[in-house]
Amino acid sequence: MPDPITEQNRRSWNAVVPAHISHRADEAAFLRNGGSTLFPEEIALLGEIRGCRLLHLLCNTGADSLSLAARGAVVTGVDLSDAAIAYARALSAASGIPATFAQADVYEYLAAARADGYRFERIYAGYGVICWLRDLRAFAAGVAGLLAPGGRFVLIEFHPASNMFTADWRLAYDYPRGGNRLELPGVGDYVGAAAGGLSPSGFLPGVREFTNPEPCTLYRWGIGEVVTALAQAELRLRELHEYCYVNGERPFERMTPAPGRRMLPPPDVPAIPLMYGLAVEKDGDDE
Ligand SMILES: C[S@@+](CC[C@H](N)C(=O)[O-])C[C@H]1O[C@@H](n2cnc3c(N)ncnc32)[C@H](O)[C@@H]1O
Repeated sequence: MPDPITEQNRRSWNAVVPAHISHRADEAAFLRNGGSTLFPEEIALLGEIRGCRLLHLLCNTGADSLSLAARGAVVTGVDLSDAAIAYARALSAASGIPATFAQADVYEYLAAARADGYRFERIYAGYGVICWLRDLRAFAAGVAGLLAPGGRFVLIEFHPASNMFTADWRLAYDYPRGGNRLELPGVGDYVGAAAGGLSPSGFLPGVREFTNPEPCTLYRWGIGEVVTALAQAELRLRELHEYCYVNGERPFERMTPAPGRRMLPPPDVPAIPLMYGLAVEKDGDDE
């Protein structure tokens, strides 16, 4: 049984999912016709996935999972939100792209899947996942336990350094560390705020001025803590990249759209890392 904070986070995500979906034109048709919601960064980090068993953690409403399945992987998506998973299953059926979706707290899923003997050649998580993890070491150990020998975990994430700035680029907050809790009024309508960056199937005005009645709690971790947790789970770092732009979202004011749904800082803001991506691998010899 998840803890009370996780239960409340589930309610907050369930409340916001309809608003997010409302901004996306027919995603099923987009995917059915060969569209993809993935960005080049995660595709490069994942490498060849055709024929791989691929676990997508914190998969949200499943469009990325189905885009990975369309590239030939056998995909399982896991997410806490019932509303997100219900939508993901319907999207799979309507797009004709098969994938398995499970509604679960990630820690419960990782433990149960290991006990059931599941293994994956690729595990992927991206774009707003680390901040929902209450225990980094348990997460890393759970990932390592589900990777097949030689398997790879890929993470692409917003850079914690970017959390030090206000929306108008003022340096105002401490660097995230220690999993310190951040209580917010609720998950916001960042899909609407992205004005198309997170709606590759087409942007619809949809729900306007959404207010989430369900508060949520995030956990603030630094990049060193993420990498250390993975290293202590015996996963070997292959790549770690920092990117001075953001894919999809528009977290700051005056960002300039660039091709490929990429958002750049305005010219008067010095380059700081806004995202990072990493790939770690499990030893190929044994489990
Ligand atoms: C920002 S979204 C991730 C975006 C996603 N990668 C995508 O491509 O759309 C974060 C997701 O984490 C899920 N989540 C939050 N806490 C979780 C937990 N403890 N276990 C599983 N999923 C969780 C939420 O329901 C939400 O769908």
